[in-house]
Amino acid sequence: MSIQLNDTFIRDSVTKEALEQMVPALESAYEKLMHGTGRGADYLGWLNLPESYDRDEFDEIKKAAHYIQKNCDIFIVIGIGGSYLGARAAIEFIKSPNYNQLHKNTPNIYFSGNDLSSSSLQELLTLCEGKDVCVNVISKSGTTTEPAIAFRIFRNLLEKKYGEEGAKERIFVTTDKAKGKLKELADQKGYKTFVVPDDIGGRYSVLSAVGLLPIAAAGIDIDAIMAGANEARKQYATCDLWQNDCCRYAVLRNILYRQGKEIEILVSYDSAMQKLSEWWKQLFGESEGKEGKGLFPVSVTFSTDLHSLGQMIQQGKRNLFETVLVFNDRQKIEIPFDEQDPDGLNFLAGKTMDFVNEKAFHATAMAHADGDVPNIILKFEGRSAYNFGFIVYFFELACALSAYMLDVNPFDQPGVEAYKDNMYALLGKPGYEEKKQELEARMKNR
Ligand code: PA5
Repeated sequence: MSIQLNDTFIRDSVTKEALEQMVPALESAYEKLMHGTGRGADYLGWLNLPESYDRDEFDEIKKAAHYIQKNCDIFIVIGIGGSYLGARAAIEFIKSPNYNQLHKNTPNIYFSGNDLSSSSLQELLTLCEGKDVCVNVISKSGTTTEPAIAFRIFRNLLEKKYGEEGAKERIFVTTDKAKGKLKELADQKGYKTFVVPDDIGGRYSVLSAVGLLPIAAAGIDIDAIMAGANEARKQYATCDLWQNDCCRYAVLRNILYRQGKEIEILVSYDSAMQKLSEWWKQLFGESEGKEGKGLFPVSVTFSTDLHSLGQMIQQGKRNLFETVLVFNDRQKIEIPFDEQDPDGLNFLAGKTMDFVNEKAFHATAMAHADGDVPNIILKFEGRSAYNFGFIVYFFELACALSAYMLDVNPFDQPGVEAYKDNMYALLGKPGYEEKKQELEARMKNR
């Protein structure tokens, strides 16, 4: 497996000379990353994780996943941002967006604590009625409000249903190895815990216990995921713009950004990629969007969105480029022949859906390139566990390199704190009294 970058639909926008001019910036970024001399270097644990991961913890993850599969109908995964997006992306990419309806030998998996909607929480509580439930709460800091509230509610539910001891067997906590409220609670109650490594930030954590426990509970081969990621690590172990497509992707998006193409649209032609796109958006958005810089990451699913955002992409403001993920569909559905041909579709009889999808891709790439929307094409073989691991590593590495080329720290997220501080103050959290007064005064004056 590899990801092949095809630049056919970008050559008019990015010349070979422009690429070559970026080599020093790329080499400097690569050097910083590999030697840990750049900003945020305390968070490089993901770089060698596919090779150096803790085998004992890996076995514990598999054991816990097996227990979850045997003992529950519903598995609730509580977390927000980097603490849930990777697992959700993996389940939909490798299995299906309809996993809960299609895979009957493993528990239904629902994600909670990633918003503050009472209705969605109530719906999950209703779904749990009369069912056996296990919970995995995931929070590196152990203090994030959304998952903390959801966990309190599901912990109460489990304790009422199974008693304190019974609930203890059904709660799995993934958090910091030593600090945070969640770790304190887990120790006090005796929950089984998994560790978010110190040197891995939330959005880079899908290949740690953060992502792997829910993924394994869904019956996915996590060895294959790690093998795919490790293959990517090896393939991208040298910084050569012409041989290393991960580096070339990072460089291309930086060149386009400098040309005023400030919005990158991740395009796929399959709804199974939607959550992977959400994970990608968080990875790039939180890593690059700071100090007044950064490409704005958005995503679309075609051909669905060609009938909505397609108009904007073709003819709106010319500040966009697309990164298109292309792969072979595992299903082949043939379009049937109809003697009467009432819908005039017989010219497609005998052709497969994925043939039509491929033509839609070629047609769209050419139309968008003609409309001054450059397309970077990333091609891979298909939706497997191995390829998921490969793709994750490809984007993590590309993101870190790209952020260093933009001269920002890829591994912090200071902007996320702004809303949190205001919310804590408005909610009356102890310690935020002064801020509360200030915000309430501002609100009165509006
Ligand atoms: O990438 C990140 O660091 C964030 O998206 C976090 O994952 C998110 O804010 C959740 O944080 P925590 O795991 O501490 O609850």
